[in-house]
Amino acid sequence: MAAQNRRIKVDLLKEHLVEVSEHESELTDRVYESLFAKRPDAVELFGTYSRANQQRMMTETLGAVLNMLDHEHWLDSYVHAMGSRHQFSYETPTDMYAPYAEAMLEALAAVSGSGWTPELARSWKAALDQVNEMMTAGYVPTSH
Ligand code: HEM
Repeated sequence: MAAQNRRIKVDLLKEHLVEVSEHESELTDRVYESLFAKRPDAVELFGTYSRANQQRMMTETLGAVLNMLDHEHWLDSYVHAMGSRHQFSYETPTDMYAPYAEAMLEALAAVSGSGWTPELARSWKAALDQVNEMMTAGYVPTSH
């Protein structure tokens, strides 16, 4: 199961999740600022009034990490379905997931200040990579 990945320190990440969830608004600002700097072509995927959706997307990502740490078995199919929605409704290419994870890591580091450690960085990276894998596993091959 995903959270058994040895790079992920479950308790450490859970405690940190509680802390960062208090900074959700700042985290959202930073994530999208960083994502759009890395991938300007991602800007046009989002609608004009998409701040609420951006916030929800970020919250869902943190939620997916938490549920993964808790071994919630429904998570796989739920996240697959969300991946499929990203493929067909939002037209998100799979190569945008890595820059999104990087943007998340940078934003998490920034809001954590001196509390950010190499161990946290490793655990977060492993967890975000796994959520991304679940998302893209929901993509189906297309002929175009
Ligand atoms: C861990 C990976 C991701 C998760 C959990 C996630 C989750 C979500 C959620 C929950 C929404 C809100 C709408 C809904 O409920 O369907 C959303 C919307 C959206 N996401 Fe993601 N997302 C992820 C990655 C990405 C990436 C990498 C991109 C592209 C850069 C992207 C682009 C979008 C777009 C364009 C929308 C629609 C927003 C709007 O209507 O303005 N997502 N995402």
